[in-house]
Amino acid sequence: MIDEKIQHVLSRLEKDIDYETEHLGETPSEKRLNCISKNIGMFYNILLKSINAKNILEIGMSVGYSGLWFADALMSNKQLNGQIITIDREEFKIDSARQNFEEAGVESLIKIRKGEARKILHEIKNEFNENYFDFIFIDADKESYIEYFDLCLPLVRKGGIIGADNILFPERFNEMMSDYLSHVRSKSNVQSVTIPIDNGEEVTIKL
Ligand SMILES: C[S@@+](CC[C@H](N)C(=O)[O-])C[C@H]1O[C@@H](n2cnc3c(N)ncnc32)[C@H](O)[C@@H]1O
Repeated sequence: MIDEKIQHVLSRLEKDIDYETEHLGETPSEKRLNCISKNIGMFYNILLKSINAKNILEIGMSVGYSGLWFADALMSNKQLNGQIITIDREEFKIDSARQNFEEAGVESLIKIRKGEARKILHEIKNEFNENYFDFIFIDADKESYIEYFDLCLPLVRKGGIIGADNILFPERFNEMMSDYLSHVRSKSNVQSVTIPIDNGEEVTIKL
């Protein structure tokens, strides 16, 4: 079901993620992995298989846990000339993600872009045609979600999906997430719903 090599790395990372969750106070916030849950990974994996996704953009990569779920979907879709572009600004997370992608055998599918998401998104806007991406995942600094959504909406194809994490939890983000939901749902060319799995996902289709 999930590629064996990818599953092996996912399982190893899940042990690190579980340890972090159980010992939250011991890890300084800037060192936390803050990955999506296994359920959410599986959810997006199924969604990406169902829309036959080929080109994916992720804002907020961390150590590549979510990226591995996306890569498995591309492989299953036989979209081997597709790609995942994923953004992060933290060197130590990028080093770790690179090793994880290599160990899972998916490094050729995934292009890591290092730097500030806002700046890189503007570059991507210039490099790629509108409607290029089948799926865009927003999972970086919560205060910028609305700005990221507005930059991403032209980049996603009709029938493509924008996913956003942390809609329900942690609760300290609730106000910002409520603003995000109002913003997204005010657009006439999208349809959007909150999926209440674990931290909560907003799943938005471009009509
Ligand atoms: C929640 S984690 C991503 C988790 C990842 N999507 C997963 O589930 O495996 C958020 C990541 O976004 C990165 N980040 C936050 N703000 C950023 C920004 N403005 N530009 C680039 N990266 C950023 C952080 O370094 C962190 O690794």
